[in-house]
Amino acid sequence: MASDSTFLTHHSMIHSNSSAMGETGALTVDLVVTSPPYPMIQMWDDMFVGQDPEIAESLDRGLGNRAFERMHALLDEVWDECFRVMKSGAILCVNIGDATRSINGEFALYSNHARILSHLLKTGFTILPEILWRKQTNAPNKFMGSGMLPGGAYVTLEHEFILIARKGGKRTFAGDEKAHRQNSAYFWEERNTWFSDVWMDLKGARQEIGDANLRQRSAAFPFELPYRLINMYSAKGDTVLDPFGGMGTTLLAAMACARHSVAYEADLDLCHAFSPDIHAFPGLANQRLEERLARHKDFILKRFEDKGAFRYKNTHYGFPVMTNQEKALVFDRLVSLSKTGDDSFQAVHCPGGETKDSQDWDEYFSSDPKTPPKARATKKSDKDPKPPAQAGLFD
Ligand SMILES: C[S@@+](CC[C@H](N)C(=O)[O-])C[C@H]1O[C@@H](n2cnc3c(N)ncnc32)[C@H](O)[C@@H]1O
Repeated sequence: MASDSTFLTHHSMIHSNSSAMGETGALTVDLVVTSPPYPMIQMWDDMFVGQDPEIAESLDRGLGNRAFERMHALLDEVWDECFRVMKSGAILCVNIGDATRSINGEFALYSNHARILSHLLKTGFTILPEILWRKQTNAPNKFMGSGMLPGGAYVTLEHEFILIARKGGKRTFAGDEKAHRQNSAYFWEERNTWFSDVWMDLKGARQEIGDANLRQRSAAFPFELPYRLINMYSAKGDTVLDPFGGMGTTLLAAMACARHSVAYEADLDLCHAFSPDIHAFPGLANQRLEERLARHKDFILKRFEDKGAFRYKNTHYGFPVMTNQEKALVFDRLVSLSKTGDDSFQAVHCPGGETKDSQDWDEYFSSDPKTPPKARATKKSDKDPKPPAQAGLFD
């Protein structure tokens, strides 16, 4: 039972095709974070053919564009269904990579991101600026085509897109939601990284949970990807949907961020593979919060040395923050996780928890933000705490 300031969130993985998400009511979802199977990437051919056998015929006959279009027609049904279940003002984030493929000896790019954007527009979504993230690879075969001879070589595909679209106008926050939004603020310096249009630091890393074969089959995205998007585009207590659930990375990120979540997955094995360690996961999720706090303190110390005192104080932790908007920011620790059904879980969260800061920050504040640095005399190395390494689970 949750008590006092603790509160509950619910998380479930539903075994079903997400072209009809009957369990999810219209206008109930605050955020969609997902990554579909990528059309024209061979590993997904069988999945598409299973839903539309004509795709196999098109591929066999060398009709690449036709196969591409039929694969996207299947995804279109899911985007339309997302539109139905999303609230007005809710955001849809789609992680997608383009594909290259030779059909009948003809090499071509199949631009999945462009095709999805064009359908989202038709559905009625408003398209927002997108993020590109760099998937670094040292593979020697990353270069394609005629090597060092001009005219027949092709540039590498080492990035993926996070397409971002909104249903209707800007979301409005009323009643309790206003306070939840304030508490769900992220740090100014996180904003500067997260809201940049190119992410260089995800590195294609995978979360190390579960069976390696299944993980490969699901093509799970890095935990940090849904974790950031959930923090960027939702408030605590919101409901996050992933219509292509895979290994459930979005659900795990939602648990760590104190949002409700639901995912759909057509592959029964993957569905059942979603089984976070209810004893270990809370500690790992909280490690990410500790890491964010440590990084913020590191940022404060450096900034104080360079620019002087701060004007704003965070109400919960007592440390300085850059803006008025970060004053109510408080992280909700994951206290416990329990199984409530075959593929469903309940999480208990506590705002702040044991993360209250004991350091005395008084000398870091000034009502005049232009106050010159006081800390010049203090050797930086004496004060500079090293943030802990990123939680191993999410590397
Ligand atoms: C790229 S993976 C998603 C990986 C996921 N983001 C993760 O981190 O584990 C796409 C998943 O969508 C599932 N899938 C494909 N079509 C589907 C559909 N129509 N409904 C539900 N799931 C589907 C596939 O089985 C696959 O697991």
